Amino acid sequence: MIPKTYLDRVIAPSLLAANFSKVGEETTRAINAGADWLHLDVMDGHFVDNISFGPAMVQAVHESNDIFLDVHLMISRPDHYLPRFIAAGSDCITVHVEADHNVSETLGRIRDAGCLAGLALNPATPFSEVVPFLHEIDLLLCMTVVPGFGGQPFMQEVMSKVEAAAAYRQEHGLSYHIEVDGGISAETAAISYKAGANVMVAGSTTFGAKDMAAAIEAIRNA
Ligand code: DX5
Ligand code: ZN
Repeated sequence: MIPKTYLDRVIAPSLLAANFSKVGEETTRAINAGADWLHLDVMDGHFVDNISFGPAMVQAVHESNDIFLDVHLMISRPDHYLPRFIAAGSDCITVHVEADHNVSETLGRIRDAGCLAGLALNPATPFSEVVPFLHEIDLLLCMTVVPGFGGQPFMQEVMSKVEAAAAYRQEHGLSYHIEVDGGISAETAAISYKAGANVMVAGSTTFGAKDMAAAIEAIRNA
């Protein structure tokens, strides 16, 4: 699925909240429920205090279903593991500005491989940290929780960063998506759209919902 422009709303359920014993079926369920992208939260137990899954999981999802794979690398050395996530079938690869790598170089390698290049910043990281890279990205991920776990409360203070990113994009004629991730529901999605975000990552409120299609629709129309 060709990613839309930043003017369109994109709903990306997070696989972290899915039933890991049946990932292929869960991915099919998300597609049938109207998901645009699938968000894959890769955690190395070092950059964040949790371990989730690696390239093999991206590969398994890629081989079992046809959906745009939005891979979020919460790992200390995204540069070292990049080839494996590219080979696994990622469509967008998002790396953290706080991780231990040459950010520009990593972003360039992601784009050279034909993937969308995403850059993420944690709630405590000031917007100024990502400004040097905004002309090199297709997506800016503003974390609305401290990364590591699903089911945490939305951090509304991050909206000023989303507004700053949208203003910067406008002023400089750029076209990156703005994605928010963590504590997203219909209510917090409405707040995030208003601030300028267009890609909504939601785990517990989609995979955890009784009616996933209704949950996705509510976030899309928030
Ligand atoms: C947290 C992850 C998020 C999380 C979202 O480190 O990056 O994608 O899984 O889960 P919810 O929607 O439950 O906050
Ligand atoms: Zn994520």
